[in-house]
Amino acid sequence: MCGIVGYVGNERDAKKVIIEGLRRLEYRGYDSAGVAVAQQSAIEYRKKAGKVADLEAAIEAAPLDKSALGIGHTRWATHGGPSDVNAHPHVVGDDKLAVVHNGIIENFSTLRAELEAKGYNFVSETDTEVAGTLLLEVYNTEAEGDLTRAMQLTAQRLEGAFTLLAIHADHPDRIVAARWNSPLVIGAGEGENFLSSDVSGFIEFTRDAVELDNGQIVTLTADGYEVTTFDGEAAEGKPFRVEWDVTAAEKGGFNSFMEKEIFDQPAAVRDTLYGRFNEEGALTLDELRIDEALLRSVNKIIIVACGTAAYAGQVARYAIEHWCRIPTEVELAHEFRYRDPIVDQQTLVVAVSQSGETMDTLMAVRHAREQGAKVIAICNTVGASIPREADAVLYTYAGPEIAVASTKAFISQIVAAYLLALYLAQVRGNKFADEIRGIIAELQEMPDKLQTLLDNADEIKQLGQDLANSKSVLFLGRHVGFPVALEGALKLKEVAYLHSEGFAAGELKHGPIALVEEGQPVFVIVPSKGSRHNLHAKVFSNIQEVRARGAVTIVIAEEGDEDVVEFANHVIRIPESAGLMQPILSTVPLQLFACSVAEARGLNVDQPRNLAKSVTVE
Ligand code: M6R
Repeated sequence: MCGIVGYVGNERDAKKVIIEGLRRLEYRGYDSAGVAVAQQSAIEYRKKAGKVADLEAAIEAAPLDKSALGIGHTRWATHGGPSDVNAHPHVVGDDKLAVVHNGIIENFSTLRAELEAKGYNFVSETDTEVAGTLLLEVYNTEAEGDLTRAMQLTAQRLEGAFTLLAIHADHPDRIVAARWNSPLVIGAGEGENFLSSDVSGFIEFTRDAVELDNGQIVTLTADGYEVTTFDGEAAEGKPFRVEWDVTAAEKGGFNSFMEKEIFDQPAAVRDTLYGRFNEEGALTLDELRIDEALLRSVNKIIIVACGTAAYAGQVARYAIEHWCRIPTEVELAHEFRYRDPIVDQQTLVVAVSQSGETMDTLMAVRHAREQGAKVIAICNTVGASIPREADAVLYTYAGPEIAVASTKAFISQIVAAYLLALYLAQVRGNKFADEIRGIIAELQEMPDKLQTLLDNADEIKQLGQDLANSKSVLFLGRHVGFPVALEGALKLKEVAYLHSEGFAAGELKHGPIALVEEGQPVFVIVPSKGSRHNLHAKVFSNIQEVRARGAVTIVIAEEGDEDVVEFANHVIRIPESAGLMQPILSTVPLQLFACSVAEARGLNVDQPRNLAKSVTVE
């Protein structure tokens, strides 16, 4: 939930590299920030409640000397509220040892009591200060001044989730870090090396990265790094090359990352489709590494995910059941394992996650595998914990998603899940090759259709400004339009702090219609006229029902659908598409609307209050 950066090198000034990294990681948490640098005989540090910009101001007011090594942190508070004193780094032992931490140390109160009994005092309410103090105690006793050994022994005693980075004034050439259930990657440079929660923390300086595994310790110097297990056995990280460059993690002229990422969607879909089928239109998901016989034996699919990723899963369910005829459930990951789900070797669990670090989803993956199920991850972050622990992974290639509100990840999760569904249909013989080719052709049309929609974004942005002072907004959808309605409502809550609810349009008359009064804005996602079961006509009736009760109806309908015009206060046009493709398009106006309302309300679109991009605590 927090962002961590470490730097050691011969040329640059550590604090500048760290601040730059923290700025890129700020999406992970932004209620306080801090940096510690090592000088010859002491640690110097600054930390501040607020954003990285507040930390920079603090450093400007009280400058830090140039240094070759340092660690930094941007926080999403768990233990102890956001304050200067609870901000990281926590510096202990007469300013000799500094630590930063991401995660939650579950046994921190026992450890704290133990350390207090030994005479240590604590100034903050954090679990991190406890971890730092334990490290200090171990360093001074059992480890006899060996920082790596001290970290190994300390890590063995910590329970919960932690990425812990430490520097010590007596070793101004090294950073030692431990990883357990929380992310950490090395950035490998020339005469300099980096540590970060994800590659965006050092992407400006190197694209050569090394994944660390759970239970590993790394000792990083300017010239290299050594990896061990918590037991001190030699170990190795897994090197990889980052496929995107620093420009992908910049706003590129847009007002916000959210807006930029909405406009990235044609490319995100194109990249997610790229190389996933051959010239004959047969799916070639080589990375899936799961025996086809096993896929043929699957009799149930459970999709586990949280938030927006769960809504992508809900969309995917319609396609999987329709194309593959496999019963499919979608479950919020944090509810999954607590209801004792029926999972066995014939169950395929699909874990959907942009970050690949969402703790709830990771725990669901572990539970599913313990029960004997195979797990396929759909993930956007290469080498993250969820794909690492799954049996196979289908990456979305949406590029880095920086805004807390998920946009391009959602669309590419749907596309990836559709590819998986088609692959299952191919392997199991549910669909003929020409049928699969036809659906792939529809998917291939999506980037251009998305671009057409985005070329008309101004109209929706204007609507956002006009409705920015609404008290609440309702979203209605049916079939695949239902999860789209839920996603539209989530986006608006999340970035505009505006009360909003998504409903299945058919549910309206079972209660929610009581909310509709004069002037109530209601978005309605209209299925294509050719959709099965005459869904179009049914949603058309729903529009009339709310309009008759005074609602301001904002109707998202396909080009050429003239029926809706009479009952719509506003019509937002989307290109025509096959029913199951529609969510890829109909979500976009809702994303643009939320972004525009948030801007009109003067809010920080990319960093909404109380949230963080990746929720790495349960
Ligand atoms: O990284 P993940 O996809 O696992 O994250 C899941 C949710 O936390 C995430 O989708 C969240 O709901 C977004 N902020 C929504 O915009």
